[in-house]
Amino acid sequence: MSGIVGYTGGQSAYPVLLSGLKKLEYRGYDSAGMALLCPKELKIAKTMGKISILEKMIGGDGYLQGLAGIGHIRWATHGAPSDINAHPHLDCSQKFAIVHNGIIENYLNLRRWLEERGHRFISETDSEVLAHLIEHFFDGDLFRAVANTVEKVEGSFAMAAIYDGEKEKLVCARRDCPLIIGLGEGENFVASDVPAFLDHTRRAYILENGEIAVVTADAVEIYTSRGEIRTKKVDEITWNAAEAEKEGYPHFMIKEIMEQPQALRRTMQGRLGGPGGGFALPELNLTPEEIGAIEQIYIIACGTSYHAGLVAKYTMERILKIPVEVDLASEFCYREPLLDKNMLFIVISQSGETADTLAALRLARKKGKRVLAITNIVGSSVAREADNVFFTWAGPEIAVASTKAYLTQLSSLYLITYYLAQEKGSLSGAELGEAGNAMLNLPDLVETILARTDEIQKMAAYLAPWESCFYIGRNIDYAVALEGALKLEEISYVHAEAYASGELKHGTLALVTEGIPVVALVTQRAIIEKSLSNIKEIKARGGHVFCFAQEGEATDEFQREVDGLFRIPATLDILMPILSVIPLQLLAYHTAIARGCPVDNPRNLTKSVTVE
Ligand code: AGP
Repeated sequence: MSGIVGYTGGQSAYPVLLSGLKKLEYRGYDSAGMALLCPKELKIAKTMGKISILEKMIGGDGYLQGLAGIGHIRWATHGAPSDINAHPHLDCSQKFAIVHNGIIENYLNLRRWLEERGHRFISETDSEVLAHLIEHFFDGDLFRAVANTVEKVEGSFAMAAIYDGEKEKLVCARRDCPLIIGLGEGENFVASDVPAFLDHTRRAYILENGEIAVVTADAVEIYTSRGEIRTKKVDEITWNAAEAEKEGYPHFMIKEIMEQPQALRRTMQGRLGGPGGGFALPELNLTPEEIGAIEQIYIIACGTSYHAGLVAKYTMERILKIPVEVDLASEFCYREPLLDKNMLFIVISQSGETADTLAALRLARKKGKRVLAITNIVGSSVAREADNVFFTWAGPEIAVASTKAYLTQLSSLYLITYYLAQEKGSLSGAELGEAGNAMLNLPDLVETILARTDEIQKMAAYLAPWESCFYIGRNIDYAVALEGALKLEEISYVHAEAYASGELKHGTLALVTEGIPVVALVTQRAIIEKSLSNIKEIKARGGHVFCFAQEGEATDEFQREVDGLFRIPATLDILMPILSVIPLQLLAYHTAIARGCPVDNPRNLTKSVTVE
């Protein structure tokens, strides 16, 4: 995933583009660049590395004179991170500049075709073909050149192009990658995501696949690729700009961890405990007959979203008494999945742009399944292509490590489960009432956990020097252990293996040596004794156990057995994942800090993975 920005208006474009790129840093950070339509020439600056390097590179009035331009932040796919492979890319005449997000699948053929016509390429990227195609097709009209260019391209793209001969015009297009036009007064903006222009405007057009926008300071015209003009609805962005910034926290990740009580309330608002009581989810768009017919649930996702799905397997099966299958999107597409008629098919994706998840969604639809998407991003590809969408309303999540998005995915899955139970009659009114009340109380309990950071910091200080550790749990605790371990690995680079507690003795126990940190989750009352014996097995081999247990009768016994105990406030056992993951997120964060890791931008990772 990469990020695109564009600006045209009365201000110097450079600072506007720079601040926009900084807001999109979560989309990629291996190189950055900008092209500015300055009075005498098209000025370009690009470099491998972070935006701060680009900032140091660009200096002097020359750059500040441009009133329009485009910028890019890259996460490499075709061609390693380098100054030359950084965007923008130019054509041979150096009059056209483009920025691109996505993958051009037929770029080798296009490159050969262009080279046969005399074009010279200097980068290894797929994107450079766009600049040369525009040059090839240009007959005095940049829109037509872009329209002809995208017609030739197979694959996914969001792109913006400028031409040195038209000092205030940007032409943009998209297919399968997001692109949004911010509408200002006497100025307009282009970006891969809304935070890039939220300081300037909250009004926007969300471009659809196949649309091409011609953007000048005073007008935005949107066309189909055949050149027919389109009238579009202006979207009002409801996030505030501060929500997309750090608000005094040192990192987005900790800000987003701390925002979780509010995010949870937002997910439940209007869906639980409203005037009619109970659970109300009209967005599922399911008739009572359709709900009654559901005999199986299939959930597809990647990474942290997949872990949310794994929790749902346990909880849905327990409540609805129907089988739930959870699959990794990247695996689902390459086996021969058996999709039954009476199956509810769900995909989960925070970003709504994950290529594997999108491919799975498309495959399921092709096989005739109606798809319900759980996503955080309005206007994302997943949201647009699914038949029905359940928004998590987590608000913008900038840190690569997903925290509040995961929590709101979990609570969305609980809402869906209880709603189906209500409609199917799987639970009694009293049971549903108890569950609803417990859910409404969760944000307050999350707040109490977040106030106990000092307890976690002590554990993080022990964990930080280790290069390897284990997470264990049984039943839903196992699903949460997987998420806790992933969180630690991705931001602190400590190798963390999650195991079902009962499975450790079948091999991995051999790796438990003196002092090795083991994080044990014990939140399910019915299996406390079994979990305790697994902990004793580890203690007997010298393991250093940090236990995260639900407050209750047995907690004092745990206190005696383990090296550190975090008491999680009590709720219904089935809802514990919403609470037990919070200290694990904090543990990962503080361990990464203690190890001096770049928490928000971990190496080799990107916020949303738009390649399969
Ligand atoms: C989360 O911390 C990860 N960075 C990653 O596993 C992520 O959850 C995964 O790539 C799926 O993303 P999505 O939810 O946007 O589809």
